[in-house]
Amino acid sequence: MALSLIRRSILLALISVVSETIEGKKDEVLYCSACRAVVDELNYSIKKVDPKRTIHVGSFRLNPDGSLKDKKVPLARSETHLTELLEDVCNNMSDYALYVDPDTKEKRYKRFAPRDDDKSGFGDFQNFQFGEGPEASNSLKFACESVVEEYEDDIISLFAQEADHVADKLCSEVSGLCKGVPVSRGEL
Ligand SMILES: *[C@@H]1O[C@H](CO)[C@@H](O)[C@H](O)[C@H]1NC(C)=O
Ligand SMILES: *[C@@H]1O[C@H](CO)[C@@H](O)[C@H](O)[C@H]1NC(C)=O
Repeated sequence: MALSLIRRSILLALISVVSETIEGKKDEVLYCSACRAVVDELNYSIKKVDPKRTIHVGSFRLNPDGSLKDKKVPLARSETHLTELLEDVCNNMSDYALYVDPDTKEKRYKRFAPRDDDKSGFGDFQNFQFGEGPEASNSLKFACESVVEEYEDDIISLFAQEADHVADKLCSEVSGLCKGVPVSRGEL
């Protein structure tokens, strides 16, 4: 009896060590980039929506005077809209590639494809590594999907609140995906 208990706790300890090791193998460049890319893409998509557009979030409850309780919230940051955006945000990862900072040699994934409204065209291509081909952007997409799945609620509540520094909050504080990366390096 006692023995089997000890054995069980050893087993449990072993399992947690093993899973921690697997956890630790999460490629930080990949996952941190994915997290920041999600924030950046959402920020961009939210800004595109006319701030005057609102959506009814009816509670179907009555006010004391008998009228229907009804609330309007800006569409852009509504849960409905954010959920919709999250559904295909990871498809945008095909616009990203591994970027090596020419000065610091630091690696991260960065958007290389210009946005619809970006007239500056393709930027400093020589600092991107496309060598790995679609495989690299597929792994970013995969990381993106796991970030979205795991932190969907946090992402929605941060964006719904119009919180400042969403990227730092989500990617460093909440998820810890960007551990080694200095907080607020500014540019995404
Ligand atoms: C969000 O997007 C706007 C413009 O679309 C940009 O000016 C702003 O810097 C972005 N914020 C973050 C945190 O990326
Ligand atoms: C994906 O990128 C396109 C092009 O920049 C943009 O219009 C769209 O809003 C982005 N989608 C999401 C879900 O962020």
